[in-house]
Amino acid sequence: MNLLQPLITRRALIRLAEPSDAGRLRRYRVQNREHLVPWEPWREEAYYELEHCAQTLADARDVVRQDRSYPMFALDLAGEEILASFTFANVVRGAFQACHLGYSVAARRQGQGLMQEVLEAALPWAFQRLDLHRVMANYMPRNERSGRLLARLGFEREGYARRYLQIGGVWEDHVLTSRIRES
Ligand SMILES: CC(C)(COP(=O)(O)OP(=O)(O)OC[C@H]1O[C@@H](n2cnc3c(N)ncnc32)[C@H](O)[C@@H]1OP(=O)(O)O)[C@@H](O)C(=O)NCCC(=O)NCCS
Repeated sequence: MNLLQPLITRRALIRLAEPSDAGRLRRYRVQNREHLVPWEPWREEAYYELEHCAQTLADARDVVRQDRSYPMFALDLAGEEILASFTFANVVRGAFQACHLGYSVAARRQGQGLMQEVLEAALPWAFQRLDLHRVMANYMPRNERSGRLLARLGFEREGYARRYLQIGGVWEDHVLTSRIRES
C-alpha cells in the first residue's frame, strides 16, 4: 500500500493531510472550536486563521518526510469535508517502533461510531505500513468518550500519569493506554 493512497471505509476517505486542505482545516477548526477546547492545548486566536492552517499543513508535510509524525484526515467520501482528524505522532524507531495517537471527530459526527470506524482502518495501516509495534493513546479520566473508544479499539490500560499534559493551560492527569501489534 502506497503511503499516499487513501483508505476507504463505509463512510470515510482517510489520507495524509495535504497542503491543499488549508480551507477545509480552517472550517474544521472554526466549526469545532467549542467542542475541542476542553480537550486540547490552549490555542491562540491565530490558530483559527487560514495562514495558521496552511503553516500546519506545510509542517505536516515536513514531519511525514522526516518519519516523525503522520497527521491524517478522514473526509467524506467525496473528499470535500474533514470529518475527523488524527495523528500518529512522536514516532520513535529502533527498539521501540512506537508512536502516540491523538484524534478528534467533528461535533456533528460524534456519537455515530465514525471515529471507531476510521481508527479501525487506520491502526492496521499504521502497524503494517509504518511498521509500528506500539501505538500509545492517553486520555484525561473525565474524557469518558475517549476512554470508551480506546477500550473498544483494544487499547489496554498501562498506567496513570499525574500532571501529564497541558490542556487548556492546566497540567492534567492522564490514563495511559497502548495497543500492540498482533502480527
Ligand atoms: C473522543 C471522541 C473522538 C469520541 O468520539 P465518539 O463519536 O464517541 O466515538 P466513536 O466513533 O467510537 O462512537 C461511539 C459512539 O457512537 C455510538 N454509535 C452510534 N452508531 C454507531 C455505529 N454504527 N457504530 C458504532 N457506534 C455507534 C456508540 O453507541 C457510541 O456512543 P456512546 O459512547 O455514547 O455509547 C470525541 O468525543 C471527540 O472528538 N472528542 C473531542 C476530542 C477528544 O477528546 N479527543 C481525544 C483526546 S484523548
